[in-house]
Amino acid sequence: MPLLEVDHVVVQFGGVTAVNEACFAAEAGRVTGLIGPNGAGKTTCFNVISGLQRPTRGAVRFDGRKVTSVPVHRRSKRGMGRTFQRLEAFGSLTVRDNVRVAADIHRGLLGAVRGIGSSSRGGVDALLERVGIAAYAEERADSIPTGTARLLELARCLAGDPKLLLLDEPSSGLDETETDDFGDLLRDLAAEGRAILMVEHDMDLVMGVCDEIHVLDFGSVIASGEPQAIRADPAVQKAYLGYAPEEDDAAAGAAGAVGAVEGPAERTRTDLPVVADDTTVLPAVAAGPAGGAR
Ligand SMILES: Nc1ncnc2c1ncn2[C@@H]1O[C@H](COP(=O)(O)OP(=O)(O)OP(=O)(O)O)[C@@H](O)[C@H]1O
Ligand SMILES: [Mg+2]
Repeated sequence: MPLLEVDHVVVQFGGVTAVNEACFAAEAGRVTGLIGPNGAGKTTCFNVISGLQRPTRGAVRFDGRKVTSVPVHRRSKRGMGRTFQRLEAFGSLTVRDNVRVAADIHRGLLGAVRGIGSSSRGGVDALLERVGIAAYAEERADSIPTGTARLLELARCLAGDPKLLLLDEPSSGLDETETDDFGDLLRDLAAEGRAILMVEHDMDLVMGVCDEIHVLDFGSVIASGEPQAIRADPAVQKAYLGYAPEEDDAAAGAAGAVGAVEGPAERTRTDLPVVADDTTVLPAVAAGPAGGAR
């Protein structure tokens, strides 16, 4: 049984259906991607999974139990950890103290009294080292670069030793080398037996580290599968580009750079390397017909 199951979840905000009968899962030991154009419902799904948003309908199961009505802090205690698209660290604290506070919160007052947990300086510094930000330990969190702040979010999350890691756009602000290291770290964390569910717009990272990917469009899961299958799926290409490549022979025949695909600004800010194989490359959407705007 998967560690996390999202079962026919619907979220409506007034007349807007942000999530529409979404079904997907994340398994222990695997990195699972949740992708889709801007506004597809990814963060709303994360809010439902972590307990910030009650679904209009549907269920969330975690670690063998239904948690749909379980409050955020109890899900967290059961082993869900989450980072946010918007950075959440305490700006006036140092990087080290941010992680220490997170560790203290997770182990709770009882743990603190009994000395249980990993908020010792050694434990905290090991976490900073692990995510690659030990050099920033003494810096105030509001003075560090965005990419470092994202890694700090991850360290804060890991301080709770989660079984499931929910990462919302964790690589934004990281440079290429940092992103590569981050991908390796995700693989290591999965190899420890954690389930990782990641919303991410960097398609090289997604395609490179995920074992499985679920694609959302207008709140619905339109595809689930391994990276290679997702990349070649016409419905996925259509969701990102606004049209299926084979609908436009002239455009499909034109050469372009891998990963240089850009959609209309309101639809996507991502590069989807929509290649059917290593040699077929699609043109930038600007060369194709209009129709991607929502
Ligand atoms: N609290 C809310 N009230 C009303 N509408 C909302 C609310 N939260 C999200 N929405 C709408 O629900 C839809 C899905 O939003 P969501 O933030 O989940 O998308 P996303 O896939 O995370 O997008 P992005 O890639 O831009 O982060 C959007 O149309 C959004 O405007
Ligand atoms: Mg989002």
